[in-house]
Amino acid sequence: MSDFQICAATSTGDEAWSRLRAALWPDCSIERLNLERELYRRSPGAVALAVDENDHAFGFAEVSIRREHVTGSRDDVVPYLEGWYVDEAWRGKQVGRALIDFVSDWARSAGYREIASDAELENVLSQHVHKRLGFREVDRTVSFIKDLDA
Ligand SMILES: CC(C)(COP(=O)(O)OP(=O)(O)OC[C@H]1O[C@@H](n2cnc3c(N)ncnc32)[C@H](O)[C@@H]1OP(=O)(O)O)[C@@H](O)C(=O)NCCC(=O)NCCS
Repeated sequence: MSDFQICAATSTGDEAWSRLRAALWPDCSIERLNLERELYRRSPGAVALAVDENDHAFGFAEVSIRREHVTGSRDDVVPYLEGWYVDEAWRGKQVGRALIDFVSDWARSAGYREIASDAELENVLSQHVHKRLGFREVDRTVSFIKDLDA
């Protein structure tokens, strides 16, 4: 098994965490990515980083606490997996599983009984991996926008 560990993100890991966020959301501006990162830091969620033996971070999982309705959930306040990413070189080595275990343990110890997530319809791999890790599918949606200024 490859040598890595999962740890909670701290402010000293900002640069690595930002790089990983940019890798997952390449179309998002750096300003927006950093703004969201700061919001996470001030919110009651959890951020886990996967680091190698040289302390280099190569994967992350971000969990927020959602207080609006989450489809399929039994509860009104639900931990939600907002971001989940592992660098390509490390994929298929159980890192994604370890990240989900870490944030699940965190959520359980904080008193929650579910963790929710989503995947884009075309991200079939992510859907498959979610199911391997114990998530069950509860809904499929298509989002729409109608321009009102045309
Ligand atoms: C989704 C992602 C985080 C998974 O990380 P990972 O480290 O490769 O996952 P793991 O190695 O821990 O695998 C977890 C499970 O999924 C399975 N799995 C992982 N990759 C797979 C693949 N390419 N094909 C089939 N099964 C796969 C593993 O076999 C494992 O199941 P098992 O333990 O029962 O055998 C990673 O693929 C990724 O970063 N993808 C790009 C970003 C993305 O789509 N994120 C999710 C957004 S919703």
